[in-house]
Amino acid sequence: GVYEKVSIPLFYGWFLFQDKIKCTAMDFLKTLDSLDAFKKHLADFPVETEKEVDLEQYFHSSWSLHCTTKFCAYGKAQGAKEYAEKTAVQESYGSVWELSLTALFVTPRTVGARVSLNEAQLALWPADADKEAEAAVPGAGALPPGSRAHISLGCAEKVEPVQTGLDLLDILVLQQAGQQGELVEEMELGSLVYFDKGRWLLTLREPVSVKTCFSSVYK
Ligand code: A2P
Repeated sequence: GVYEKVSIPLFYGWFLFQDKIKCTAMDFLKTLDSLDAFKKHLADFPVETEKEVDLEQYFHSSWSLHCTTKFCAYGKAQGAKEYAEKTAVQESYGSVWELSLTALFVTPRTVGARVSLNEAQLALWPADADKEAEAAVPGAGALPPGSRAHISLGCAEKVEPVQTGLDLLDILVLQQAGQQGELVEEMELGSLVYFDKGRWLLTLREPVSVKTCFSSVYK
């Protein structure tokens, strides 16, 4: 009936109680766009000025912070119903989880935080999430499960948040292939590495732990 049809949400995920990580990321953006190394590669970004860009203005966000597990599109997405019916999903619904954030990344499209999932959290990760990205990011299907786990912190104009996870996978595929990137600077937060095409990765010295609630969204 009608009620069954609307019972599958738009998406499931871990929802943050605080947005402190966004403040940390905004501070990082402020530092990043002032670095000579960043200005040197400014042409990677689609901006008109040759001198500088204000990354805090460049990215926008209007959503509450979360780490998507399964995008269900109200049941239209492949595997949505199976996911909603999983025992782990049903038993965990509404419970509190600590997620570990291990890196921040910036591209001309998105800014996000990498989430490193533990075994228990991987039980809530959909089986094919990383493989599904293979078409968009060649090589993503061969990465360990949960590689795509992230928090979208901002998107450039006309970019959808779904891009953030793809940008993360893209960087991880490079790393998996043995590319270390160019170590640009040891910052207080961690080491900053540049991989061409405007891809910046800050691996956090100390992972940041954030409290979340596993839940879902119907818009
Ligand atoms: P993300 O998880 O990277 O933030 P929207 O507002 O565009 O409908 O998306 C709702 C949430 O679901 C967003 O958090 C978004 O990206 C995520 N999302 C949207 N489309 C997909 C998709 N095809 N695969 C995985 N996640 C998606």
